[in-house]
Amino acid sequence: MRPVTFDETAVALEAINLSVTLRRSRDGADIPAVNGVSFTLYRGRTLGIVGESGCGKSTTAMSLLRLLPRTARIAGQIRFRGEDLLAASEERLRAIRGRYISMIFQDPMVALDPLFTIGDQLAEPLRIHCGLEGDALRARQVELLAAVGISTPETRLTQYPHQMSGGMLQRIVGAIAMSCNPDVLIADEPTTALDPRAQASYLDLLKMFGETYGLALVMVTHDMGVVARVCDDVLVMYAGQAVEKGPVRQIFNAPKHPYTRALLTSIPNGEVEREWLPTIAGQPPDLSRLPPGCSFAPRCSAAQERCSREAQIERVVGDRHRARCWRAVAP
Ligand SMILES: Nc1ncnc2c1ncn2[C@@H]1O[C@H](COP(=O)(O)OP(=O)(O)O)[C@@H](O)[C@H]1O
Ligand SMILES: [Mg+2]
Repeated sequence: MRPVTFDETAVALEAINLSVTLRRSRDGADIPAVNGVSFTLYRGRTLGIVGESGCGKSTTAMSLLRLLPRTARIAGQIRFRGEDLLAASEERLRAIRGRYISMIFQDPMVALDPLFTIGDQLAEPLRIHCGLEGDALRARQVELLAAVGISTPETRLTQYPHQMSGGMLQRIVGAIAMSCNPDVLIADEPTTALDPRAQASYLDLLKMFGETYGLALVMVTHDMGVVARVCDDVLVMYAGQAVEKGPVRQIFNAPKHPYTRALLTSIPNGEVEREWLPTIAGQPPDLSRLPPGCSFAPRCSAAQERCSREAQIERVVGDRHRARCWRAVAP
């Protein structure tokens, strides 16, 4: 795979005022899983979407490809290559998925079929989207496996998923996602099922892909340590909203939202066991019954009376840095 030259400032995709309402099957309640979220993906840069479980990260990521339950209602715009993907036909989306925008999920076994060889599964997108056959197809399969660090790729192509380790399978899923040189790659907690060493090298692999091939990478994670390792920009989500966003360096140096600060204090430093880390007291709210005012107020150690009364608007606190807290001010 040859590196490409690209304009780093080029916008790959833009989500504008994205909102997703899901229907909860248990009681039919409307769940505002994503509420007015906007962000921009740039070529060669990685955006981290971070927050605790249930904050709407996966729903945000899935809506970029409109991979949502049938009952979901979605509003806003997803601007990609001059069109709005939320207005595109289902046929058009099928042509985009896996070709221009691809996705890696948490568990590689969900993405791979146990009954087919690795070669078969890698061949599918290469045939459908890239029109490769015969020797050219074979050469590309070998090249892709080598690019994700799989030794003896020729042998691996003839094997089945159960003959490989979890780390290797996730690399193969990465090769499938990269097979047609997509513009955007979305990875939703891709290292959760891996051991710590495999986690770190997998993150580095994705980062290398982003930088070398001008991919816009989206990294969904609950771990600020992952953001520190691979991301250039970050979107911090809480209760379906973007509570803070901007360049990683700026946000790590001067976090403006109390939720971001709380997440940052829970980064492991290598000496302390993960279980011993401070966690944020309390739970994210039930999205079907959000508190009035700021959603984070009930758990915020700095909350004042006005916080539970006033809904918070996004404030400009720096170049491309925004925070949804009335206390956040520019430096
Ligand atoms: N298929 C679904 N139907 C109804 N509610 C859902 C569905 N998937 C997720 N939710 C709800 O939407 C909210 C956001 O979920 P999700 O996007 O998965 O969060 P995260 O990825 O940050 O953990 C949660 O309250 C979750 O319970
Ligand atoms: Mg998720």
